[in-house]
Amino acid sequence: MAGGQSLKQGEKILFGIAIAFIGFAVLAYLALEAYRLRASGAVFEVTTHFDLSADGQRGSELFRTHRCTACHRAMRNGTNMGLSLDGLGSRRTQEWIYNFLRDPEAVYGAKTFDHGYPPKEAASVSLLPSEELRLISIFLSELKSDQGSPSAPAPPKGESAFVDNMLKNFAPESWKEKYSDVREKEVPQEKGNAPSE
Ligand code: HEC
Repeated sequence: MAGGQSLKQGEKILFGIAIAFIGFAVLAYLALEAYRLRASGAVFEVTTHFDLSADGQRGSELFRTHRCTACHRAMRNGTNMGLSLDGLGSRRTQEWIYNFLRDPEAVYGAKTFDHGYPPKEAASVSLLPSEELRLISIFLSELKSDQGSPSAPAPPKGESAFVDNMLKNFAPESWKEKYSDVREKEVPQEKGNAPSE
């Protein structure tokens, strides 16, 4: 510093804490990268997939040119901050998606945040030409997920040690007669949702 002033005690502690945080973040990043580079397979299991038809392909182009990716993620493109649409086609039918894009609040049956009427941020979506919305809804309905994926309607098959342990240790005996294990059943589909495959 200009006047040769030394740091006060409190400043030293604050700087020390900040440097410790930064140091930890750098080390953690390096460790993760080293692990990722050495790992033979994918570090995270990929549980969503897509196989686009010609219409779906055109819809995916519209999805990008209309900047849906500013708020959404699909096919591993777009932002991580918003709602991910990967796997959407395993939860919603193409018809549901089309109707949502056209008239969001009516389909949600509740207030929406970004889709809807101006001045909402994504208000322009419902004003797109029908043909474009049709292609986009086909694209989104072709994004599928595996059972147990966070975006799938059905929970993981009954093979989670964690869930099994929680059930064993915490679920009262009486529950066993009262409830059945949803992991072993067909998951009931809500109205408008896609049937499970
Ligand atoms: C400004 C941010 C924003 C933009 C841009 C945007 N969305 Fe959304 N989207 C949202 C939010 C937030 C929701 C949740 C509903 C709501 O509150 O509006 C949503 C919900 C959806 C859903 C319903 C998902 C579900 O299962 O509930 C679909 C489908 C969708 N968006 C498609 C699109 C498409 C296609 C575009 C581009 C044409 C688009 N969105 C552009 C923010 C955005």
